[in-house]
Amino acid sequence: MLIKEKMLEPLNKQIAMELFAETQYIAIAVYFDTEGLSALASFFYRQAEEEREHAMKFVHYMIEAGATPVIPGLPAPKNGFASAQEAVELALHHEMKVTESINNLVDLAIENKDHATDTFLRWFVTEQVEEVDSMTSLLQVIQHAGPHMMWVENYVRQLAAKA
Ligand code: FEO
Repeated sequence: MLIKEKMLEPLNKQIAMELFAETQYIAIAVYFDTEGLSALASFFYRQAEEEREHAMKFVHYMIEAGATPVIPGLPAPKNGFASAQEAVELALHHEMKVTESINNLVDLAIENKDHATDTFLRWFVTEQVEEVDSMTSLLQVIQHAGPHMMWVENYVRQLAAKA
């Protein structure tokens, strides 16, 4: 096995975190969908798919490096929100937690001289910069828009068109 023993449990915990993010983002997408905000709903359905891809990157990496990932059970995500702001604040909070967790994993990989895992994790370091930035911007747009949610819908549609 190429992965250092001490990395196994933290890597498994990261799989849980990414899969939890998938379900949380589906729950946020459902909230926007039921509010008739289809661009925001699509944005979060897409984010959920990305989180699944993140989890699967960890699963495949562990197998490729000779480890056996343990697929976790998950806590229930929050369903139903009082406002768009509340939903996106929760998403941003989760992205900050994921960023901290990835940084801790990198620290641990360096400490344990696990160069393979360290290199694998670098993609996630960059990805988290983008994820925190996009969620922060979305929250700012929501705060500026106040009750004018169609402005937010237009902003998200423009983002999707550029992607
Ligand atoms: Fe996989 Fe959005 O962190």
